Amino acid sequence: MANKLKHNPIVGCMRWGVWGENFVIKQYEQIIDQCLSIGLNVFDHADIYGHYTTEADFGNALKGNTSLRDKIQIITKCGINMLTPNRPHHQIKSYDTSANHILKSVEQSLQNFHTDYIDTLLIHRPDILIDVEEVANTITSLKQSGKIKSFGVSNFTTGQVALLSKYISIEHHQVEISATHLNSFDDGVLDQCQLNNIQAQSWSPMGNGLFTDQNEKHSRILEAATVLSSNYNCSVNQILLAFLYTHPSNIVPVIGTTKFERIAEAKKAKDIELKREDFYKLWSASTGKEVD
Ligand SMILES: NC(=O)c1ccc[n+]([C@@H]2O[C@H](COP(=O)([O-])OP(=O)(O)OC[C@H]3O[C@@H](n4cnc5c(N)ncnc54)[C@H](OP(=O)(O)O)[C@@H]3O)[C@@H](O)[C@H]2O)c1
Repeated sequence: MANKLKHNPIVGCMRWGVWGENFVIKQYEQIIDQCLSIGLNVFDHADIYGHYTTEADFGNALKGNTSLRDKIQIITKCGINMLTPNRPHHQIKSYDTSANHILKSVEQSLQNFHTDYIDTLLIHRPDILIDVEEVANTITSLKQSGKIKSFGVSNFTTGQVALLSKYISIEHHQVEISATHLNSFDDGVLDQCQLNNIQAQSWSPMGNGLFTDQNEKHSRILEAATVLSSNYNCSVNQILLAFLYTHPSNIVPVIGTTKFERIAEAKKAKDIELKREDFYKLWSASTGKEVD
């Protein structure tokens, strides 16, 4: 296979706040420091995480250490209106990619992180009512003002990416990809990333529910990953990441663990060269059949 460019994982922060571990500021500071100590410096957020509270919790950890901001990169997302007591004016969960919503959300994120720029802004979900020219103009103005450095989307179809790309350059596409969620491998999303030089990021790279929901598919994947982990002398988590790293689109996993040991272990998954047949063993374990 061609020489592959394997990026360090992005550190997902969705479970750091009230949607997970409920870290206090000291724990945010500690885990950020630990990540930096092993060279992981990109942190993934969304305005909605922790019912709109996790960005600010993370930002409080940055506030006390002014030199930290330049050492890290922040990804955040907007475009979902979530039903929560923290946003009492929302009547229904909905999507909003209007200029007004994007600009307001970015201003709030800047305030939450105590910063004057976001490294990467992603549109979180494809808004059915998206006005692509309006989004493009808004993103262009945010880039010109220096408030965002790069732009991407999340969970879009190839058609939606193609349409928006006509008006603005899409630099990142964050989608669910794992041994349990294979769709992006053959629905054109990863082909499009390669074709258009878009960085593919995979959320829930461990496989949504793989460790928590027991079913036949999950048992097959875990069994195959366990055999491979023994063959490659590594952990099951590392095999699941190596599965993603094997693909030629240079997928960047967005890891969600809240445990530093698992973060450190994930970083080393890049070094595993999964054989082609072993990729297909996991693939077949997931689909429940050999390829045609
Ligand atoms: N763009 C989007 O629409 C979207 C959607 C969802 C998530 N995301 C982003 O993607 C990131 C990752 O998502 P994710 O958290 O679902 O990712 P994940 O890395 O697939 O899953 C992390 C979860 O799996 C658990 N886990 C990991 N290894 C385990 C093991 N060996 N045994 C048992 N449990 C294990 C972790 O628990 P511990 O914490 O105990 O290790 C944690 O609860 C999020 O933080 C967020 O930034 C984006």
